[in-house]
Amino acid sequence: MERRAVCPGSFDPITNGHLDIIERASRLYDVVHVAVLINKSKQGLFTVEERIQLIKEVTAEYGNVVVESHHGLLVDYCKDREIPAIVKGLRAVSDFDYELQMAQMNNGLTGVETVFIPTSPTYSFLSSSLVKEVATYGGDVSHLVPESVLRRLIERIAERRQS
Ligand code: PNS
Repeated sequence: MERRAVCPGSFDPITNGHLDIIERASRLYDVVHVAVLINKSKQGLFTVEERIQLIKEVTAEYGNVVVESHHGLLVDYCKDREIPAIVKGLRAVSDFDYELQMAQMNNGLTGVETVFIPTSPTYSFLSSSLVKEVATYGGDVSHLVPESVLRRLIERIAERRQS
């Protein structure tokens, strides 16, 4: 049977930290689903379609990554696609509390397992929100996001500034 896992997140936008986890998951599983969870209360810098497009571009080389959006509970996404494992990166102890809570809640809901992969120390401080903040004020984030994301990020920030 095909071994499947999901890497869920907001991905606004995808960073090298996300990519590191997705790449490592793609070596452990036959198929890795990247699920962009839609959170209506959070206004993103990129639309869900733009995020999906960027993720598709930067994960194409792995050959076993499927990118989709989902509105609702992550456990329902997993149930619909018969995905038994959620893969999450853990950056630091500070991630652990909330991640453990979600893992236990999700397991209690449907029995889905959560597998934690320790983030590479290179990216332990990295988050999409910090990347956006640093880029907004002209800081260099070229080592933190893939090249195509960097280009789109700089364009989007410039557009926002004009409007
Ligand atoms: O990239 P993020 O924003 O840290 O990802 C958090 C995410 C989207 C993985 C988490 O909020 C989530 O799983 N949302 C889907 C809704 C859901 O299932 N909520 C119950 C979690 S126990």
